[in-house]
Amino acid sequence: MKFFIDTADLAQIKEANDLGILDGVTTNPSLMAKVGISGEAAVTKHYIDICNIVDGDISAEVVSTDFDGIIAEGKKLAALHKNIVVKVPMIKEGVKAIKWFTDNGIRTNCTLIFSAGQAILAAKAGATYISPFIGRIDDTGWDGIELIHQIRQIYSIQGFKSEILAASIRNPNHIIKCAEAGADVCTCPLESILGLLKHPLTDIGLAKFLEDAKKFA
Ligand code: G3P
Repeated sequence: MKFFIDTADLAQIKEANDLGILDGVTTNPSLMAKVGISGEAAVTKHYIDICNIVDGDISAEVVSTDFDGIIAEGKKLAALHKNIVVKVPMIKEGVKAIKWFTDNGIRTNCTLIFSAGQAILAAKAGATYISPFIGRIDDTGWDGIELIHQIRQIYSIQGFKSEILAASIRNPNHIIKCAEAGADVCTCPLESILGLLKHPLTDIGLAKFLEDAKKFA
């Protein structure tokens, strides 16, 4: 399973990249706004800054909702760097645009996936990645991980090639459950990635090893 970080915060992206386990970055307009980036010029520069930190796929989201607008925006984003993947919302015009991008060699990430039906449509259109938002599904009392299982099963039976990019990760256990369910990618906040490191028995064991090592110093 590939690890992406789900943030537009350059310090966090650097920290995750320095761990040596980062395969890419996902962003969205809300994450850009969270770090105070707005306006086309600033957003464009920010994508290039991210591409200069991480050597992996970087999702850049369109904000148009009509076919012509999505295509124009997506072409500009894709031209910024070879690693940019155009992130397109799961709407009717978005599906049409994903098919156009597929036919024209531009890679896509279909975002805001909340059902297996949406995942089938995005795969049929040729999306490189599809992003089910598992945390937001859990928030509504449904089971986000169950959706990952269902999409994995459908894609395996049908031979769909889109990669399942589990998004809206809330905690380290979500990452483990996504790995079990066969997600191809998990895009996570830094906190959830670092949370995988932690176990109290590791801390206790290390303290004991270091204490014992002093006996022979
Ligand atoms: O990449 C977008 C997705 O991960 C959203 O996460 O936490 O806003 O539900 P969240």
